[in-house]
Amino acid sequence: MKLQRVLQYAKFLLTESIEKGEVVVDATAGNGHDTLFLAELVGENGHVYSFDIQQDAVNATINRLKESGLENRATVILDGHQHVTKYFSGEIAGAVFNLGYLPGANHEIITKGETTIQAIEGLLNLLKVNGMIVLVIYHGHEGGKAERDAVLNYVSNLPQKYVQVLKYEFLNQKNDPPFIVAIEKTKKLPKES
Ligand SMILES: C[S@@+](CC[C@H](N)C(=O)[O-])C[C@H]1O[C@@H](n2cnc3c(N)ncnc32)[C@H](O)[C@@H]1O
Repeated sequence: MKLQRVLQYAKFLLTESIEKGEVVVDATAGNGHDTLFLAELVGENGHVYSFDIQQDAVNATINRLKESGLENRATVILDGHQHVTKYFSGEIAGAVFNLGYLPGANHEIITKGETTIQAIEGLLNLLKVNGMIVLVIYHGHEGGKAERDAVLNYVSNLPQKYVQVLKYEFLNQKNDPPFIVAIEKTKKLPKES
Protein backbone atom coordinates (compact mmCIF):
# COMPACT_ATOMS: atom_id res chain seq x y z
CA MET A 1 0.00 0.00 0.00
CA LYS A 2 1.21 3.50 -0.85
CA LEU A 3 -0.03 6.70 0.73
CA GLN A 4 -1.90 8.75 -1.83
CA ARG A 5 -0.08 11.93 -2.88
CA VAL A 6 -1.82 15.21 -2.19
CA LEU A 7 -3.31 15.87 -5.64
CA GLN A 8 -4.24 12.22 -6.03
CA TYR A 9 -6.01 12.26 -2.66
CA ALA A 10 -7.89 15.48 -3.54
CA LYS A 11 -9.22 13.77 -6.68
CA PHE A 12 -10.10 10.67 -4.69
CA LEU A 13 -12.19 12.70 -2.22
CA LEU A 14 -14.03 14.48 -5.05
CA THR A 15 -14.62 11.24 -6.94
CA GLU A 16 -16.08 9.59 -3.84
CA SER A 17 -18.45 12.45 -3.00
CA ILE A 18 -19.72 13.58 -6.44
CA GLU A 19 -22.24 11.68 -8.55
CA LYS A 20 -23.24 11.99 -12.18
CA GLY A 21 -25.80 14.71 -12.83
CA GLU A 22 -24.75 16.88 -9.88
CA VAL A 23 -23.67 20.53 -9.76
CA VAL A 24 -20.17 21.34 -8.51
CA VAL A 25 -17.82 24.33 -8.22
CA ASP A 26 -14.21 24.85 -9.21
CA ALA A 27 -13.41 27.92 -7.11
CA THR A 28 -10.01 28.54 -8.74
CA ALA A 29 -10.17 27.65 -12.43
CA GLY A 30 -6.53 28.50 -13.30
CA ASN A 31 -5.49 26.44 -16.30
CA GLY A 32 -8.68 24.40 -16.10
CA HIS A 33 -7.34 21.03 -14.99
CA ASP A 34 -9.80 20.68 -12.13
CA THR A 35 -12.71 22.07 -14.15
CA LEU A 36 -12.11 19.41 -16.78
CA PHE A 37 -11.79 16.71 -14.12
CA LEU A 38 -15.08 17.82 -12.54
CA ALA A 39 -16.82 18.08 -15.93
CA GLU A 40 -15.92 14.44 -16.54
CA LEU A 41 -17.13 13.45 -13.06
CA VAL A 42 -20.56 15.08 -13.30
CA GLY A 43 -21.31 13.62 -16.73
CA GLU A 44 -23.55 15.04 -19.43
CA ASN A 45 -26.41 15.93 -17.08
CA GLY A 46 -24.29 17.63 -14.45
CA HIS A 47 -22.71 21.07 -14.43
CA VAL A 48 -19.55 22.81 -13.20
CA TYR A 49 -19.38 26.48 -12.22
CA SER A 50 -15.78 27.70 -12.39
CA PHE A 51 -14.44 30.98 -11.07
CA ASP A 52 -11.27 32.93 -11.69
CA ILE A 53 -10.38 36.60 -11.49
CA GLN A 54 -7.95 36.43 -14.44
CA GLN A 55 -9.18 36.56 -18.04
CA ASP A 56 -6.22 34.37 -19.10
CA ALA A 57 -7.34 31.67 -16.68
CA VAL A 58 -10.93 31.84 -17.93
CA ASN A 59 -9.69 31.53 -21.54
CA ALA A 60 -7.35 28.65 -20.70
CA THR A 61 -10.15 26.80 -18.92
CA ILE A 62 -12.63 27.26 -21.77
CA ASN A 63 -9.99 26.10 -24.27
CA ARG A 64 -9.19 23.01 -22.22
CA LEU A 65 -12.89 22.11 -22.05
CA LYS A 66 -13.29 22.66 -25.80
CA GLU A 67 -10.34 20.36 -26.56
CA SER A 68 -12.29 17.60 -24.82
CA GLY A 69 -15.65 18.62 -26.27
CA LEU A 70 -17.00 19.31 -22.77
CA GLU A 71 -17.55 23.09 -22.93
CA ASN A 72 -21.31 22.65 -22.44
CA ARG A 73 -20.80 21.06 -19.05
CA ALA A 74 -19.24 24.14 -17.45
CA THR A 75 -19.88 27.84 -16.96
CA VAL A 76 -16.59 29.68 -16.52
CA ILE A 77 -17.10 32.95 -14.67
CA LEU A 78 -14.69 35.89 -14.58
CA ASP A 79 -15.26 36.85 -10.97
CA GLY A 80 -14.01 36.12 -7.48
CA HIS A 81 -15.23 32.95 -5.79
CA GLN A 82 -16.37 35.07 -2.83
CA HIS A 83 -19.32 36.07 -5.04
CA VAL A 84 -20.38 32.49 -5.71
CA THR A 85 -23.90 32.91 -4.31
CA LYS A 86 -24.61 35.71 -6.83
CA TYR A 87 -24.52 33.16 -9.66
CA PHE A 88 -26.71 30.31 -8.47
CA SER A 89 -28.66 29.21 -5.44
CA GLY A 90 -29.29 25.50 -5.92
CA GLU A 91 -27.61 22.62 -4.14
CA ILE A 92 -24.01 21.69 -4.96
CA ALA A 93 -22.36 18.32 -4.43
CA GLY A 94 -18.85 19.62 -3.89
CA ALA A 95 -16.22 22.24 -4.58
CA VAL A 96 -12.48 22.41 -5.04
CA PHE A 97 -9.95 25.17 -4.43
CA ASN A 98 -6.29 25.25 -5.43
CA LEU A 99 -4.94 28.17 -3.45
CA GLY A 100 -2.00 30.30 -4.53
CA TYR A 101 -1.07 31.76 -7.91
CA LEU A 102 -1.60 30.63 -11.48
CA PRO A 103 1.54 28.75 -12.61
CA GLY A 104 3.28 30.62 -15.42
CA ALA A 105 1.44 33.89 -14.70
CA ASN A 106 1.86 36.86 -12.36
CA HIS A 107 2.83 35.48 -8.92
CA GLU A 108 1.35 38.53 -7.24
CA ILE A 109 -2.21 37.57 -8.20
CA ILE A 110 -2.96 35.12 -5.43
CA THR A 111 -5.91 33.82 -3.49
CA LYS A 112 -6.33 35.59 -0.15
CA GLY A 113 -7.53 34.41 3.24
CA GLU A 114 -10.44 36.80 3.61
CA THR A 115 -12.03 36.06 0.23
CA THR A 116 -11.27 32.35 0.42
CA ILE A 117 -13.13 32.21 3.74
CA GLN A 118 -16.08 34.18 2.31
CA ALA A 119 -16.25 31.66 -0.54
CA ILE A 120 -16.15 28.67 1.82
CA GLU A 121 -18.97 30.22 3.86
CA GLY A 122 -21.13 30.68 0.76
CA LEU A 123 -20.38 27.21 -0.56
CA LEU A 124 -21.09 25.54 2.79
CA ASN A 125 -24.63 26.92 2.66
CA LEU A 126 -25.15 25.48 -0.83
CA LEU A 127 -23.46 22.15 -0.13
CA LYS A 128 -25.56 18.99 0.09
CA VAL A 129 -25.34 16.88 3.23
CA ASN A 130 -22.41 14.45 2.70
CA GLY A 131 -20.97 16.85 0.11
CA MET A 132 -17.38 17.99 0.36
CA ILE A 133 -15.27 21.10 -0.14
CA VAL A 134 -11.66 20.22 -0.89
CA LEU A 135 -8.91 22.82 -0.56
CA VAL A 136 -5.37 22.19 -1.78
CA ILE A 137 -3.36 24.70 0.22
CA TYR A 138 -0.13 25.94 -1.34
CA HIS A 139 1.72 28.17 1.12
CA GLY A 140 5.33 28.50 -0.07
CA HIS A 141 4.81 31.79 -1.94
CA GLU A 142 4.67 35.31 -0.53
CA GLY A 143 1.31 35.76 1.16
CA GLY A 144 0.73 32.00 1.29
CA LYS A 145 1.39 31.57 4.99
CA ALA A 146 -1.02 34.35 5.97
CA GLU A 147 -3.76 32.74 3.87
CA ARG A 148 -2.93 29.26 5.21
CA ASP A 149 -3.17 30.45 8.81
CA ALA A 150 -6.42 32.36 8.26
CA VAL A 151 -8.07 29.39 6.54
CA LEU A 152 -6.84 26.89 9.16
CA ASN A 153 -8.11 29.11 11.95
CA TYR A 154 -11.51 29.44 10.28
CA VAL A 155 -12.03 25.76 9.45
CA SER A 156 -10.76 24.59 12.86
CA ASN A 157 -13.59 26.54 14.47
CA LEU A 158 -16.42 25.24 12.28
CA PRO A 159 -19.07 23.52 14.46
CA GLN A 160 -18.46 19.80 14.74
CA LYS A 161 -22.21 19.17 14.89
CA TYR A 162 -22.58 20.13 11.22
CA VAL A 163 -19.19 19.66 9.54
CA GLN A 164 -16.14 17.44 9.80
CA VAL A 165 -12.79 18.94 8.84
CA LEU A 166 -9.81 16.86 7.76
CA LYS A 167 -6.20 17.94 7.21
CA TYR A 168 -4.09 15.64 5.03
CA GLU A 169 -0.43 16.58 5.11
CA PHE A 170 2.98 15.01 4.67
CA LEU A 171 5.04 16.16 7.64
CA ASN A 172 8.59 15.39 6.54
CA GLN A 173 8.67 16.94 3.05
CA LYS A 174 10.86 19.97 2.43
CA ASN A 175 9.95 23.32 0.80
CA ASP A 176 6.45 23.93 2.12
CA PRO A 177 4.61 21.14 0.30
CA PRO A 178 0.90 21.67 -0.33
CA PHE A 179 -1.62 19.96 1.92
CA ILE A 180 -5.35 19.28 1.85
CA VAL A 181 -8.17 20.56 3.98
CA ALA A 182 -11.43 18.73 3.30
CA ILE A 183 -14.71 19.94 4.78
CA GLU A 184 -17.52 17.41 4.84
CA LYS A 185 -21.02 18.62 5.66
CA THR A 186 -22.74 16.08 7.87
CA LYS A 187 -25.93 17.95 8.74
CA LYS A 188 -27.92 20.96 7.48
CA LEU A 189 -26.61 24.18 8.98
CA PRO A 190 -28.96 25.91 11.46
CA LYS A 191 -29.55 28.93 9.15
CA GLU A 192 -30.70 26.61 6.33
CA SER A 193 -33.46 24.85 8.26
C1 LIG B 1 -3.23 27.66 -8.07
S1 LIG B 1 -4.17 28.47 -9.29
C2 LIG B 1 -5.41 27.31 -9.72
C3 LIG B 1 -4.93 26.15 -10.56
C4 LIG B 1 -6.07 25.40 -11.22
N1 LIG B 1 -6.86 24.65 -10.29
C5 LIG B 1 -5.64 24.50 -12.38
O1 LIG B 1 -6.16 23.40 -12.49
O2 LIG B 1 -4.81 24.94 -13.16
C6 LIG B 1 -5.06 29.67 -8.37
C7 LIG B 1 -6.01 30.51 -9.21
O3 LIG B 1 -6.87 31.24 -8.34
C8 LIG B 1 -7.20 32.44 -8.98
N2 LIG B 1 -7.77 33.37 -7.99
C9 LIG B 1 -7.14 34.24 -7.15
N3 LIG B 1 -8.05 34.87 -6.38
C10 LIG B 1 -9.28 34.41 -6.76
C11 LIG B 1 -10.62 34.69 -6.34
N4 LIG B 1 -10.87 35.56 -5.39
N5 LIG B 1 -11.61 34.02 -6.94
C12 LIG B 1 -11.38 33.11 -7.92
N6 LIG B 1 -10.13 32.80 -8.36
C13 LIG B 1 -9.10 33.45 -7.78
C14 LIG B 1 -5.90 32.89 -9.61
O4 LIG B 1 -6.14 33.82 -10.64
C15 LIG B 1 -5.32 31.55 -10.10
O5 LIG B 1 -5.65 31.32 -11.44
